[in-house]
Amino acid sequence: MPCPALPDGFDFTDPDVLHHRVPLPEFAELRRSEPVRWIPQQPGVAGFEDDGYWAVTRHADVKYVSTHPELFSSFLNTAVIRFNEHIQREQIEVQRLIMLNMDPPEHTRVRQIVQRGFTPRAIRSLEDALRARAASIVANALAGAAPDGSFDFVTQVACELPLQAIAELIGVPQEDRVKIFDWSNKMVAYDDPEYAITEEIGAESATELISYAMNMAADRKRCPAKDIVSTLVAAEDQGNLASDEFGFFVLLLAVAGNETTRNAITHGMHALLTHPDQWDLYKRERPRTTAEEIVRWATPVVAFQRTATQDTELGGRRIRKGDRVGVFYSSANNDPEVFERPEVFDITRDPNPHLGFGGGGPHFCLGKSLATLEIDLIFDAIADAMPDLRLAGAPRRLRSAWLNGVKELQVAHA
Ligand code: HEM
Repeated sequence: MPCPALPDGFDFTDPDVLHHRVPLPEFAELRRSEPVRWIPQQPGVAGFEDDGYWAVTRHADVKYVSTHPELFSSFLNTAVIRFNEHIQREQIEVQRLIMLNMDPPEHTRVRQIVQRGFTPRAIRSLEDALRARAASIVANALAGAAPDGSFDFVTQVACELPLQAIAELIGVPQEDRVKIFDWSNKMVAYDDPEYAITEEIGAESATELISYAMNMAADRKRCPAKDIVSTLVAAEDQGNLASDEFGFFVLLLAVAGNETTRNAITHGMHALLTHPDQWDLYKRERPRTTAEEIVRWATPVVAFQRTATQDTELGGRRIRKGDRVGVFYSSANNDPEVFERPEVFDITRDPNPHLGFGGGGPHFCLGKSLATLEIDLIFDAIADAMPDLRLAGAPRRLRSAWLNGVKELQVAHA
């Protein structure tokens, strides 16, 4: 039965849809009536025959697809489901070098290496430095506020900590951080015309960042130090990363760890300020379940995609080999089969088996512990330094094909 509520031509990955809202009512309708639904799209670039994708909307099915890489490949697992708009054939070869788009056994090899940089101990070792960063970001926002106490939360608070965290993790020297941050920011958000970032600027920034990271790797191969870069690249013949592999890994970190966390922090602030009982609770008790609920509530990555490696079945539908399959984390995170009253923002929600960091398969977010630490630290700093913060405007949403993004959120303190 086709879903009655979905207008003809409706596409969940249309940047013009996400510009205005996450299509939660449409997801709810699909979960009920057609949980795996074919969404037609414009024909792709020459050579690509596909003309649409399957939208997978139930929590259980998103998990199933994510945990069966032998049926659903991550090759072409670009964040932009309408890859025909942005990604040309030659770029696809480049995409293959990024672990997010790899399948086993290549993915398993790279993941085992890079995991060493993300152990609980490695993340804990960043905590003091990041706590101090969070406090100084908040202090600077306060100092730079307009006379009426207002400032833009996105640029003044949410933007910086995620980039500082990545720089801290891989040990980028202080004097290089400004350019790293600039390249990172230019690689994202090119769906939004307001940023005037063309694909060319994005590609140039990516090239610069990769070559910067490759130089770092080459340096550490020559003179290993006690840092994570050395741990990942030192002895290549003993199963470490080659310099170019490290370059592409840093590129992925700059994309995967930057806007995602920024948007989690921004949506988190908005949710806390629009739910004063939850903000009061946070200020009183600082529940360590908050970050997970913020990621569920915000679901910064609306969806990723897989490609079927063989004919198979999903949710009663026949999927053909080569079909693209979009796993909609935003929908899964509001599935009432799994979450009691998913429409309620509850920072004490526990358990909270949300799929905001992925569906639990081999690509599950490598940076989850770092992201939740950042969220804890920034809200602790805000609760300490500006407990009276209030909204001073509606969020201005980002135009994007895959991110639940906010580019401006005016707030004010007394
Ligand atoms: C993968 C979300 C923060 C690094 C992913 C995936 C999602 C995700 C949905 C894909 C999962 C899959 O395909 O199954 C998020 C969200 C974040 C966040 C919502 C913030 C709230 C970070 C941070 C880092 C990071 C801070 C590192 C600095 C990665 C990497 C992968 C990944 C390297 C690829 C893993 C692989 O292919 O094996 N993330 N992420 N993420 N994330 Fe995150």
